[in-house]
Amino acid sequence: MNAPAAVRWENDRLLLLDQRALPGEMIYLSIDSLDAAIDAIRTLAVRGAPAIGIAAAYALACSMRDVEGGKFADTLAANATRLRDARPTAVNLAWAVDRLVSAANGTADYAVLVSEAARIHAEDRRICRAIGESGRHLITPGCRILTHCNAGALAVSELGTATAPMYLSHEAGVPFSVYADETRPLLQGARLTAWELSRAGIDVTLLCDNAAASLFAAGRIDLVLVGTDRVTANGDVVNKIGTLNLAVLCRHYGVPFYVACPSSTFDAGTATGSDVMIEQRAPIEVTGPNATGAAVYNPAFDVTPAGLVSALITDRGMLPSPDREKLAEHFS
Ligand code: MRU
Repeated sequence: MNAPAAVRWENDRLLLLDQRALPGEMIYLSIDSLDAAIDAIRTLAVRGAPAIGIAAAYALACSMRDVEGGKFADTLAANATRLRDARPTAVNLAWAVDRLVSAANGTADYAVLVSEAARIHAEDRRICRAIGESGRHLITPGCRILTHCNAGALAVSELGTATAPMYLSHEAGVPFSVYADETRPLLQGARLTAWELSRAGIDVTLLCDNAAASLFAAGRIDLVLVGTDRVTANGDVVNKIGTLNLAVLCRHYGVPFYVACPSSTFDAGTATGSDVMIEQRAPIEVTGPNATGAAVYNPAFDVTPAGLVSALITDRGMLPSPDREKLAEHFS
């Protein structure tokens, strides 16, 4: 695994790998204001549920560096709200921001915020490895895996979530191959997953999203493995638009559908997927230069009902056929 870090904290400065420029250029943005952090999150310079949480945590800490004691609490609350609103769907963003607000616990100490952000970052690395250990047994020799979007190192830290079992199996010398959906409209699969996995020496084949069904029909997929932006209390999985298509294909062709879910992505406070706000993005992402005046439907995420999920792969082990009761116990 040799993907560059999506988020770096160096010499008291936040650096974000500009994923909009990948794979062509590797540029780090130095984030020196709250506005710059919000812009980086909205425009997907940094993206992927855990990575936006980590970036927002450091950005919130930075924004408090020179705030004097009397204004600390109000400024922290206002900056936290602005960051939480940057993108609505991944629960990790609000979760990480809330953790910093709780860590401040009424004090006006910038250093406490930086330490909490660094703790979230370090936990994330451990969580990814634990997901890898939980799920590596699924990858048997010759296994053909289909993945969607990017739930790899670039979306998290180090091993990624959906990619963690792949990296550990590859390291152990297990032969397997991966099909990566290109993931229209922003091409996270083509620009990021295919790039990340091939740099690591993993056998990866890129396909258009609409070619997936033909691979299932030809019996060329053994399992689907994706990440998630939020798993709700009943086990519904919110992930990149197009994930639901794959889950339906899995059910039709009898292929298992696995979701890598870190504890930070389980949202016990939201009952079902239909309670989650799905981010709607700009028409130009779909039309490119070919705008015709027709309306454009461009949701960034969809909801896969819990009933289509074979198992969650979590940092606390596998959770087959997730439902409300099992999830409450698993993450208690
Ligand atoms: O719009 P993005 O690129 O932030 O969407 C990312 C995804 O949907 C990922 O699958 C998800 O965040 C899981 S990342 C471990």
